[in-house]
Amino acid sequence: MHKIILIGYMGSGKSTIGKLLSQKTSIPAFDLDQIIEEATQKTIPELFSESGEIKFRKLEHEKLKSFIAENDNYILSLGGGAPCYANNHEFLQLDGIISVYLKASIKELLARLENERHNRPLLAGLNDEEVEEFVAKHLFDRSYFYHQAKHIVSVDGKNPDAIVNEIKGLLA
Ligand code: S3P
Repeated sequence: MHKIILIGYMGSGKSTIGKLLSQKTSIPAFDLDQIIEEATQKTIPELFSESGEIKFRKLEHEKLKSFIAENDNYILSLGGGAPCYANNHEFLQLDGIISVYLKASIKELLARLENERHNRPLLAGLNDEEVEEFVAKHLFDRSYFYHQAKHIVSVDGKNPDAIVNEIKGLLA
C-alpha cells in the first residue's frame, strides 16, 4: 500500500508521471482535476469561467480532503495550484503520505506549456511575453508551498522513465 501525491507547477508532468509510475508499480493513478471534472460534469476551464476561481479552490479542497480520507493505495496528481490554497499543503506532510514535488525550471515549464496553454484558464489570453512574466512570478509565489513536499525530484532534461525510477526509489 502506498499513498503518493505528486505536485508541481502546470506543465511539470504530474499526470504523465503519475500514469507511468502506475504502470510500473501497479499502484492506481488518479488526477484531482479529473476527479473534479467527473464530479461536476464540467471541464476545469468551464468551472473557472462559470463559477470563478474561488469556488474552484473550495471544490478542490473538499475533493482532496475526501480523497485522502477514503483511499489508502494511490498515486494522486494534484492541479498546480492545489498545494497553495486552504492549507492543502498540510496534507503533504501527513504520516504515511509520500509527497513529491516535480520541480522544473521556468525555461523548462515554458517549453512544456508552449502548446498546452488553452487548457489552462490562468494562462489563457496571455501572449508569449506575458506568459513568461506570469509563470516566473507565479512560480516564485508558489515555491514555498511546493517545498512542503517531503521529496523533491528535478525534472529538467530528464525523460519520464528516469523520473519514475527516481520516485520508485523513494518507495522502498
Ligand atoms: C491550476 C492548474 C491546473 C488546474 C487549474 C489551475 C493552477 O492543473 O488545476 O487550471 O492553479 O496551477 P495542472 O497543473 O494539471 O495544469
